[in-house]
Amino acid sequence: MILKNCVGLVTGASQGLGKAFAEALLKKEAKVVICDLNHAQGADTKAEFDERYGPGRTTFMACDVTSLPQMKDVFSETLQTFGRLDILCNNAGINNESSWEKTISVNLVALIQASYLALDHMRCDRGGHGGSIVNVASMSAFLPGAHCPVYTASKHGVLGFTRSLAEASRLGNYGIRINALCPSFVNTSILDTINHEEILGNFYQFKDGVKNLIKVFGVLEPSVIADSFVQLLEDDSLNGAVMKITTTKGVHFENY
Ligand SMILES: NC(=O)c1ccc[n+]([C@@H]2O[C@H](COP(=O)([O-])OP(=O)(O)OC[C@H]3O[C@@H](n4cnc5c(N)ncnc54)[C@H](O)[C@@H]3O)[C@@H](O)[C@H]2O)c1
Repeated sequence: MILKNCVGLVTGASQGLGKAFAEALLKKEAKVVICDLNHAQGADTKAEFDERYGPGRTTFMACDVTSLPQMKDVFSETLQTFGRLDILCNNAGINNESSWEKTISVNLVALIQASYLALDHMRCDRGGHGGSIVNVASMSAFLPGAHCPVYTASKHGVLGFTRSLAEASRLGNYGIRINALCPSFVNTSILDTINHEEILGNFYQFKDGVKNLIKVFGVLEPSVIADSFVQLLEDDSLNGAVMKITTTKGVHFENY
């Protein structure tokens, strides 16, 4: 996929990994829709990108990914503003074991919902022009996490959904590549959740285990993960791929 002039929608792109993914698309001369719950941060990020990459390349749409009406509006406004949609990056995510239903809702249910909305717009077998979906999972999609059982379940779910939808796309000639990105620890605000008892609830007692893992394995910068995100988009041979990025092994793929 040649990213120049493509239009990408990145959820949770006000900050952290989503912001890095959005910026990576802008560097490739694509246009970007930032969609995020956080109005103030989203507006700041859009202003920063306007200054750095020129006005008209980025738009910010405040929205909660768990809301179907709001997401439908985001997709139709994207088409109104930029005339097309080529890329969906399902990045928005939370780690909250106390509000565990919300964690499943944001990390898994909303990701499925947005993927289906993207399919409606992109499917070649239904008059669309194809495209690419990147779902942000985590190394938590492979490993147990005593401090975050529900976050872990949500990320395992992301992999099962991504691989199955990719297979459906291949068999059904959707013309859409669907892949998963699984970073290990990254320097963003979500890492701070492990310091909060009100967030981890009953599992706060296991926080030292993950803190030790962070000490041993280290923390990656969002720009490193953004380079891998671009690789997933640009490599047309990848569909149903599960890309891992760790400090010890760098970029590598899970072989099933
Ligand atoms: N940072 C890490 O160590 C790490 C590792 C692996 C995977 N991930 C995944 O990366 C993704 C991005 O997280 P991050 O690390 O950048 O964290 P972050 O907290 O910095 O960013 C998450 C973004 O999602 C937005 N968001 C949350 N709920 C939303 C909702 N309902 N609707 C719209 N936007 C919403 C937030 O406002 C925020 O801008 C998540 O899916 C996370 O699980 C992070």
